[in-house]
Amino acid sequence: MKKISVSTFAKRKAANEKLVMVTSYDAPAARIAASAGIDILLVGDSVAMTVLGLASTIPMTMDEMLHHTKAVRRGAPDSFVVFDMPFMSYQADTAEALRNAARALKEADADAVKLEGGAEVAPLIRQLVSSGIPVMAHMGLMPQHVQALGGYKVQGKTEEDAARLLAEAKIIEEAGAFALVLECIPASLGKKITESLRIPTIGIGSGADCSGQVQVLHDVLGLGGDFLPRHAKRYAELGKIAENALKQYADEVKAGVFPGDANSF
Ligand code: KIV
Repeated sequence: MKKISVSTFAKRKAANEKLVMVTSYDAPAARIAASAGIDILLVGDSVAMTVLGLASTIPMTMDEMLHHTKAVRRGAPDSFVVFDMPFMSYQADTAEALRNAARALKEADADAVKLEGGAEVAPLIRQLVSSGIPVMAHMGLMPQHVQALGGYKVQGKTEEDAARLLAEAKIIEEAGAFALVLECIPASLGKKITESLRIPTIGIGSGADCSGQVQVLHDVLGLGGDFLPRHAKRYAELGKIAENALKQYADEVKAGVFPGDANSF
């Protein structure tokens, strides 16, 4: 499959062709997602919760995100890979943000970076883009702001908040972002923002009218335990399949069935 580039994003939106993104944190999953024809692999800072057993994305560091992104790139050499800038890798000052974003491209061979924020990150987006670093923006529910937001809550529910998000989305587009992730906003607002922009929106819990969708890999594959967020859908029960396989393995070892002749030298 031909690797998509930054310039194909707006074209796909104009052609009304949906974009599909999934999170990816390691080489085997990246390989599977690429073979499945997923357009974009996001090395999300959600790795904190899905893989590292942390309670939020806040503790993630640049070095940890680079480690996972390098693995994803090895597993999917031809995929469009987005590096999620971790908390405080871009908020403190512009020079540090530029250097950190450059590391994503230079050290991990990412195609773009993603960062959370509205109008306040527009000047930084402008700087990154003019330095040659493509930026995917992220608005609505921003998990790095979970403390300030008071939890993982749907955003843009009041008229005032919806109007602010729409205005800020236009500022983000103007600043040069090539795509905008919209997380957990009402479907009607997702539609309105999508129709108001030239760049594609990629929704998660933001309705079917976004230009594309992103999901967390562990949610769609049933690897995330019993809890499934309302915005997610489970397409497989790999957690249960894996548990059964491991039980069978343990039973066979205990019963002296494994290893058999075929597994011995
Ligand atoms: O980190 C992540 O997985 C994300 C997606 C939910 C958009 O930012």
